[in-house]
Amino acid sequence: MTIIRPDKKVAMCSDHAGFELKNAIIDYLGAKGIATDDFGTSSSESCDYPDFAHPCAMAVESGKDYPGIAMCGTGNGIAMTLNKHQGIRAALCWTPELARLAREHNDANILVLPARFIDKDTALTIVETFLSTPFEGGRHERRIDKIPL
Ligand code: RB5
Repeated sequence: MTIIRPDKKVAMCSDHAGFELKNAIIDYLGAKGIATDDFGTSSSESCDYPDFAHPCAMAVESGKDYPGIAMCGTGNGIAMTLNKHQGIRAALCWTPELARLAREHNDANILVLPARFIDKDTALTIVETFLSTPFEGGRHERRIDKIPL
């Protein structure tokens, strides 16, 4: 599996609803020699997704890690939190096609998964697609440049 930035660690975060899937993704990537940086949560005990999303977003925003993968039950709460950061383009994806387009057209730097609405195999295929698809640039570059306020 060829990934877009093999020199960086993939930043990971979830709440309790995404805890199991986060572990499965970390194990899957680890088995392929892809390093991850886990910002929690660290158990399936009920917690608040912003506590983990903000540190994860800051690691990607600063360039320490790239890209990120985040998940909560629906994906919405954690995506809303991540996208408060100016340098973050977090994309909620539930099919590999959406993940491919989020990279090609939006240069998404954090993949967000709805952990309670997709199975593990689908999630892993989405992760593979996201990590290996380059940004297309061109007209899409102009559009993403207009996103920040
Ligand atoms: C947790 O129950 C759930 O609200 C959370 O994982 C997420 O779906 C919020 O957007």
